[in-house]
Amino acid sequence: MHLIDTNVNRTNPNDVKWGVTKDDPDLLPMTVADMDIATPAFIRDAMQNLINQKVLGYVIPSTTLYDAFIHWQKVYHGVSLTREQLILIPSVAVGLSFVLRYLTDVGDGVIVMSPYYPPYQTLIKSNQRQFIDFPLIQRDGQYVIDFKRLEQRMDTSKAKAILVCNPHNPGGRVWTNTELQRIHELANERGMLVIADEIHDDTVYSDNQPVSMLSDLMGEDAASQTVLLKSATKAFNLAGVKTAFLATKNTQILGKLKQAATAEAIEEVNTFGLVATRTAYEQGESWLKEVNAYLEGNRDFAYQYLREHIPMIRPMYPEGTYLMWLDFMAYGFSDQELDAKLRSLGHIALNPGIDYGKAGSGFMRLNFAVDRNVLKDALHRLESFDKAVKAN
Ligand SMILES: Cc1ncc(COP(=O)(O)O)c(C=O)c1O
Repeated sequence: MHLIDTNVNRTNPNDVKWGVTKDDPDLLPMTVADMDIATPAFIRDAMQNLINQKVLGYVIPSTTLYDAFIHWQKVYHGVSLTREQLILIPSVAVGLSFVLRYLTDVGDGVIVMSPYYPPYQTLIKSNQRQFIDFPLIQRDGQYVIDFKRLEQRMDTSKAKAILVCNPHNPGGRVWTNTELQRIHELANERGMLVIADEIHDDTVYSDNQPVSMLSDLMGEDAASQTVLLKSATKAFNLAGVKTAFLATKNTQILGKLKQAATAEAIEEVNTFGLVATRTAYEQGESWLKEVNAYLEGNRDFAYQYLREHIPMIRPMYPEGTYLMWLDFMAYGFSDQELDAKLRSLGHIALNPGIDYGKAGSGFMRLNFAVDRNVLKDALHRLESFDKAVKAN
């Protein structure tokens, strides 16, 4: 019996991804990073059990929630944590803003590798910190870090922190142990804070296992300047439950953040999120295995299809995440034209790469966490776009 269910209908006008179809019912959105795959039944059942208790009053986060997360991080990510090292947060975005406000000062620089998840820029700038863009370079069709330039950028910018997204959204890279160690070394030498966004690290394929910035492999020194942000929401399709974790092994940082957490009552997260997150980490192993195998099939299918049938669209091969970064530069369109033409000629909406910083110009991001037939439809729409452009 299959555990995953790809038969979902999201045509709700308030749905961030599918809401666009209220203005254009023919448009196929392959955008926002959640899945068109049902949130697992065992998680929905656990939430239903809570409803069945008839009272949704105050609750204390259960010890089993912390135990489940600690166990998950140890078994799947080689990260040893204690309950004292954890702070509950409503989301990774809220956690990032919280960390910036309490661990850096107004005017401090924060290095972000570009292209980047767009809210990074918004959160850093609106907290009056300097957004320091560090473009990744492409080698053999994948993003890599030019460490010489990173070192220079750290020195010239005097940045106080570096944000590391692993696996990388939108490029799909799973940074290697060596790359992460090098980032740690450079940051450590300069007393920089490392903010690790590992929200996508449970969406992994047979050819790659992400290493956490807080992994035991990294050693104590490396881990000591790191704050980890993560949740069950990407892998288990729970974005709406708004529950995540912040973890750090640095006692000084922890002390500051715990005090700040009390001041802001930041740990007062949603009861449904507590239940959903605990259930995901307690019972999620088989479901996750199945969904990741399905997503891996989607990834391989889309990658092959694009290479064989639409070679002017050049995909990056995602090592992790359910996001594929597509290079449309061969068509020679401006970013605005490209988005408009994909919609008008292909009836498909992708996330415009330019939203991910200048380094994303000419790219589009495709979310392949959908039923295989929907993915085929999306690829056919891209083919129609390609043919229509060539016919003009
Ligand atoms: C890299 C990355 N970080 C953070 C988030 C947002 O996480 P949250 O919903 O927990 O704020 C996303 C969502 O797409 C993401 O891709």
